[in-house]
Amino acid sequence: MSEQSIGVGLIGCGTVGSGVVELLQEQSERYARRLGCRLELRRVLVRPQDVDYKTERVPRNVLVTDPEAFFATESMPILVELGGGRGAISQFVRRALDMGKHVVTANKALLAAEGAELFALARQRGVSIGFEASCAGGIPLITAINFGLMANRIQALYGILNGTCNYILSQMTSKNAPYATALAEAQTRGFAEADPTLDVGGGDSAHKLAIIASLAFGCQVSDEAIPCTGIDTLDLADVRFGAELGYEMKLLGMAERIDEGNGAPGLSLSVQPGLSLSVQPCFIHREEPLAQVHGSFNAIAIFGHAVGQTVYVGRGAGKEPTASAVVSDVLNIAAGWYPQAFGKMHIWPDQQKPPRLFDPRQVQARYYLRFNALDRPGVMGAIATALGDAGISLSGIIQHESCAGEFVPLVMTTHEARQGPLNDALAKLKQLDFIDGEPVVIRVVEMPPG
Ligand code: NDP
Ligand code: HSE
Repeated sequence: MSEQSIGVGLIGCGTVGSGVVELLQEQSERYARRLGCRLELRRVLVRPQDVDYKTERVPRNVLVTDPEAFFATESMPILVELGGGRGAISQFVRRALDMGKHVVTANKALLAAEGAELFALARQRGVSIGFEASCAGGIPLITAINFGLMANRIQALYGILNGTCNYILSQMTSKNAPYATALAEAQTRGFAEADPTLDVGGGDSAHKLAIIASLAFGCQVSDEAIPCTGIDTLDLADVRFGAELGYEMKLLGMAERIDEGNGAPGLSLSVQPGLSLSVQPCFIHREEPLAQVHGSFNAIAIFGHAVGQTVYVGRGAGKEPTASAVVSDVLNIAAGWYPQAFGKMHIWPDQQKPPRLFDPRQVQARYYLRFNALDRPGVMGAIATALGDAGISLSGIIQHESCAGEFVPLVMTTHEARQGPLNDALAKLKQLDFIDGEPVVIRVVEMPPG
């Protein structure tokens, strides 16, 4: 690409798309100086109903509503996909790659499901896919994993990967905001997905974890292989009890390598080595860097064998932060180095096999438990004994004063315990007449020494 200007096409002009249009317009001189040529937004494909509504910054002669007119546009070697979802959007991305266009996308749902095929297609056609914006918004996380940490064997990563959930948890924790109000605010601010159940149900974090775990561990991780619990069933009572114990609640995406001779951080050696993957609400001690990350910010702690711990923090969602990552990809493609690296390096998931997954029952960690238990003689002892019989040792207990004979929250934390025996013990306990409903189980994550 040595032209005086490089044509860019954009599909979708919503929250992120409009941010990209603004950056390309406002920073055009600076980008031209850095690149030695101009980026020219040649066509923007929008829905007919969006022509007068979301696109006031786009010149009329650039806007189209017909995909055929969009794809017929000449001299447009870079296509930015910001429509979201799959279906027609997947077909557009494939068509662009087939036509020999580089693609830049923020679409983690598409990449988590079809990334390996799309990467293979791109490589066949001699083009690249930029997807920095797909994980952790404005943080250059993909670049860090693929290039900055290349010398390392990654042992584990822990990430706050969803800005909407972190925003909701922060509002609930610090302002006592009701869950629904905090979610509505996140939607208004443009953090949430078109379907916010993807955010709060943990699916969006699982998409992102599938992408970054594939890159970090050199394997092809499917989001369907990731056990996933969101924040939509959380009880504010647990956020408060956690705070009493010195913990912050965070929705974490976690990937931990468990090797022979190498218990991954927070876990111990198992008979069958493998990769442990999950998305779940967790408690982190408030002194840990990740616990101090609030609002729509994301943060990822990555442990490499040579470098130790590295932590990446920044705005994980929203118009400008995400547009920053998208436009950086466009610039890196236009500069020429990124397509070369994409074509040459064996770091993309289409070139790898699925990982051997670690048995979740063997995962060893600390846990927070909350029972709704009858306040009568012997109950606390019976629970502690049942857990003790399963080899689970308690590290803390909270019961606030109440009227004798009522059901009360009884909170316990454990020392390291295996998930399987813990689940078995809880299944037995919940059958007993002095326990009401399902016990709450939340993992307490202890980061390895950096
Ligand atoms: P929006 O819903 O705000 O914008 C998407 C726009 O694209 C909508 O106007 C939509 O129209 C339009 N669109 C969808 N399909 C088509 C199509 N086939 N032809 C023309 N227009 C189409 O979403 P966002 O900007 O928030 O997100 C875009 C992408 O970026 C998604 O993949 C999202 O996951 C990702 N992302 C978003 C972040 C954020 O903070 N918002 C952060 C990181 C990634 P309509 O509404 O009518 O369908
Ligand atoms: N809905 C996503 C979030 C957008 O809240 O993190 C960024 O990927």
